[in-house]
Amino acid sequence: MCGIVGYIGHREAYPIILQGLQRLEYRGYDSAGIALYDGDHLKVCKTKGKVEDLKNRLESEISTKGTIGIGHTRWATHGVPNDINSHPHISNSGNLVIIHNGIIENYDPLRQELINRGYSFQSDTDTEVLVNLIEDVKSKENVKLGKAVQIALNQTIGAYAIAVFDKTKPNEIVVARLGSPLAIGVGDDEFFIASDATPFIEYTNNAIYLEDGEMAVVRNHKELEIRKIKDDSLVDPYIQELQLNLEQIEKGGYDHFMIKEIYEQPDAITDTFRGRMKTKEGIIRMAGIDDNIDKFLNARRIVVVACGTSWHAGLVAEYIFEEFARIPVEVEYASEFRYRNPVIYEDDVVIAISQSGETADTMAAIKLAKEKGAFVFGVCNVVGSSISRETHAGAYTHAGPEIGVASTKAFTTQITILTLIALKLAKLKGKLSLTEFRTYLQELESIPAKVAEALKSNEQAIRVAAQYKDVANALYLGRGYNFPVALEGALKLKEISYIHAEGYPAAEMKHGPIALIDEEMPVVVIATRQGHYEKVVSNIEEIKARSGKIIGIVSKGDTEVKKLADHVIEIPETLEPFTPLLTTIPLQLLSYHIAVMLGKNVDQPRNLAKSVTVE
Ligand code: F6R
Repeated sequence: MCGIVGYIGHREAYPIILQGLQRLEYRGYDSAGIALYDGDHLKVCKTKGKVEDLKNRLESEISTKGTIGIGHTRWATHGVPNDINSHPHISNSGNLVIIHNGIIENYDPLRQELINRGYSFQSDTDTEVLVNLIEDVKSKENVKLGKAVQIALNQTIGAYAIAVFDKTKPNEIVVARLGSPLAIGVGDDEFFIASDATPFIEYTNNAIYLEDGEMAVVRNHKELEIRKIKDDSLVDPYIQELQLNLEQIEKGGYDHFMIKEIYEQPDAITDTFRGRMKTKEGIIRMAGIDDNIDKFLNARRIVVVACGTSWHAGLVAEYIFEEFARIPVEVEYASEFRYRNPVIYEDDVVIAISQSGETADTMAAIKLAKEKGAFVFGVCNVVGSSISRETHAGAYTHAGPEIGVASTKAFTTQITILTLIALKLAKLKGKLSLTEFRTYLQELESIPAKVAEALKSNEQAIRVAAQYKDVANALYLGRGYNFPVALEGALKLKEISYIHAEGYPAAEMKHGPIALIDEEMPVVVIATRQGHYEKVVSNIEEIKARSGKIIGIVSKGDTEVKKLADHVIEIPETLEPFTPLLTTIPLQLLSYHIAVMLGKNVDQPRNLAKSVTVE
């Protein structure tokens, strides 16, 4: 995920773009850059680091004059975060300049073709390929910039929101979108371009949100033309009146980053799949696995090391790996593993899971596993993070920046990527037929839409939250794949509302925790139809018999649990191994709303930090 901003009009572009980048920094903050045209020269300044670093550098290095410009804040996908890979990127002639949010999946063959035609590249990015492809088309076909962008985009596979201009014709900016958001602010004789409307809200509240597959040329401060990229047909601009105020916008219109990130999960999971899952062909492609496939296929065991929510994702993975790939799995707290001289074999594969890629205990566990000769694979969200560099190979979750301290979309995307790995290994090991494999892939593909449906339980979560916000304790129960979800649900409640909560495997309750149950105790029970349903129903009966309050997380259309529970929250049906991706959604919503009702600092809970770089 990246943030893009552009301006063309009668004002100085620099302050508008700089402020826009600050507002979009939630979308990515590993590097930033700006391009301005001052009437004579194209000036580009970019740097690894935050927008603040860019500001310091830019104001000392270049003049900030100019009424046309573009800016970018980056969440690296292709190429490590450094000055060269930062956007904007310039074409070989030095005339075209581009910013891009997304991934051009077929950039490699396009790059090769351009190299054969004499082009050279400075960065590792797909974006530099795109700007040169546009330039190549423009000169080869002798067409205007807009047409060149359109022809070039029709040769690409992937996702993009782009803004590009030509310094030899600095009266227009061409923008386009497919899969990444792009808004155009329509002012008086001026246009604003951005990933969302936050950068221009104080200048205009008239905005056009481009649809997927559309491009626009904004010209001469007044003219605007929208077309379909595929067939060149003209589109009538639909100008919306924005209902935003300045206070809301830093969280993209949400009250907190946490709720925004909860709602981002359908897109985040889709981004995790992107370019990896080919359902029709029955293929899962992941370079980090493909390049080391023998290590995985010959693994004696998989040992997962992680902390907190990432450890919970590892526990879900244990069920999934053992079920599908039939490889024994152990899941270790990194903080315990690192200090207990664990038995590690050279043919073990150690998987380190970490959203931030900076967690000190996980880092130390990786070093120890490497010393003992194991192959270490990282599952991280933050591109270029320490853990992603320290591991032998890895896969990014591509969930986009997670700013709320309580992990939400990181958890579901970690489970997603670990599921892809397990399914891939299962197929290669002959544990799943091609038909079975395809069935699982098809179902996985439907998960983002089902997560979106599960998010509709928000209103119910609010009602349940209002009733239980003042309790002192809560229990979370689940079995099988949903036992780790019970742990995660309890952690979410604890960390942001400071209510004591415990997660248990449902059947363990009678070995002790049942003593806690009385009419004051809410018990959240995950009781989907697919997983040990009758057993869980019996556990619910046991709680009911002791006057506990039941909040059931059930499959759509459930009748049995409904009869027993005080409240039920429904989620869509899916195959049992994928239920954690759905059951976790109402639990996130429930803890969020309880914390908000209690007036807690949801995004920055006391005593916590987003990335735990100390032991
Ligand atoms: C809980 C939470 C933490 C992290 C843990 C590991 O919501 O965010 O428990 O999961 O600190 O962090 P990462 O995944 O960055 O290694």
